[in-house]
Amino acid sequence: MTPTQTAPAPDLAAVKTRQQAAWSTGDFHVVAARIALTAERLCDTADLHAGWRVLDVATGSGNAAIAAARLGCTSVGVDYVPSLVARGRERAAAEGLDVDLRDGDAEDLPFPDAAFDAVTSVFGCMFAPDHERAAAELLRVCRPGGTIALASWTPEGFIGDLFRVVAAHVPPPAGLRPPMLWGTEAHLRTLFGDGVTSLRVVPRTFTFRFASADEFADVFVRWYGPTAAAYRALGDGGEALRADLAALARDADRLGGGAIAVDAAYTEAIATRR
Ligand SMILES: C[S@@+](CC[C@H](N)C(=O)[O-])C[C@H]1O[C@@H](n2cnc3c(N)ncnc32)[C@H](O)[C@@H]1O
Repeated sequence: MTPTQTAPAPDLAAVKTRQQAAWSTGDFHVVAARIALTAERLCDTADLHAGWRVLDVATGSGNAAIAAARLGCTSVGVDYVPSLVARGRERAAAEGLDVDLRDGDAEDLPFPDAAFDAVTSVFGCMFAPDHERAAAELLRVCRPGGTIALASWTPEGFIGDLFRVVAAHVPPPAGLRPPMLWGTEAHLRTLFGDGVTSLRVVPRTFTFRFASADEFADVFVRWYGPTAAAYRALGDGGEALRADLAALARDADRLGGGAIAVDAAYTEAIATRR
């Protein structure tokens, strides 16, 4: 391809269908239960007020929707994987929290304009293939003066590396922008433009802890949608992916013994809707 040629635009609807199937593979809740701290922390950083009506977009099994309910908010969550939404309802009931969890697409939120005082998404809307559409939906359903709070993995961080390992085995569609761009201030400023009056981006770290690098790889190829789907698609080649994931975790481990601790960089972005 010459420098003047560009890859054809990917079919974003087809990409989304495949991604929805991927997130339905395994059971993301196994990972969600381990990263619940990130949702609790984002809701605290966002300073959600008790009594606010809060929407958590791409809520999975409800981590941030449950965190918002814990703060006294009227909490709603949407995700396009019905089994995760159902799991979220069970979790909320077990905690005695009132959370309205529904099926829904981050790129076409089933709510009227300005319906929420705050809109959150924890490693969620960053995975929508049409970044502009997902950002426009966050802005649309948030009232003027309301808060948009996002947690997003960074391109250079551990989860960026993990997606590069997966891409080496199962290349993503040509021209598809990486979800980790949402972890950069420059991309968020481009996406939200003058739809926000302020944007604060805070670097954060979440530490993944496993009994070993092999356990990390096993959990991710079994339960985490994108890696589980790639592992299954590879057939016999899946074992090479599993080995590369274990090597990735071993390299990133900062303990150097049996149990591993892997620091994964992400950002919290807090914006005020114009
Ligand atoms: C990494 S998980 C995060 C889930 C949850 N926010 C958490 O912190 O545990 C990504 C989630 O985004 C959801 N998702 C991705 N694209 C979506 C879309 N276009 N609409 C709704 N949900 C989406 C997936 O189903 C999955 O539950």
